[in-house]
Amino acid sequence: MRNVILIGFMGSGKTTVGLRLSYRLRRTVIDTDKEIEREEKREISDIFAAEGEAYFRDKETECLQRLIKSTGSQIISVGGGLPMREENRKLLRRLGQVFYLRATAETIYERVKNDTTRPLLRGENPMMKIKTLLQERDPYYRAAADVIIDVDGKGFEQILNEIEVCVE
Ligand code: S3P
Repeated sequence: MRNVILIGFMGSGKTTVGLRLSYRLRRTVIDTDKEIEREEKREISDIFAAEGEAYFRDKETECLQRLIKSTGSQIISVGGGLPMREENRKLLRRLGQVFYLRATAETIYERVKNDTTRPLLRGENPMMKIKTLLQERDPYYRAAADVIIDVDGKGFEQILNEIEVCVE
């Protein structure tokens, strides 16, 4: 059995879908953000503030390298920026079947507008930030994905059903 990997923008539902999918498929779930926080013993916003984004990005690559060695049939949800590195996209491909949870900027904004844990969306105009980043990232998400799941306007049950029929 291959790993099921969930990629997509912040707020696209990776963590919640990962958790629910793990119950449904009876597989364990891993979240790269949580792995990094556990290993670093601090929160992502603190890592960004103290070490900068480049340091965090290196931790993401190291996390994938570790997962390659250790896993086989899990659900893995990854941070929204992780698939931007070419090396990471190659690692994701080796790691399993990649699902892109695709959402529009409007859906994302609604989900993250009251959230303070995502350093990249802090600041003056979060909607503008989301639109710009999403436009920049969408081609990389598509390049990394085996399957694209559109999540706008859908409940979790529907999203899970759509993923389940595609799982190899
Ligand atoms: C980031 C997404 C976050 C987290 C970090 C950076 C990004 O993960 O890795 O704040 O660059 O999109 P989620 O996608 O789980 O929010």
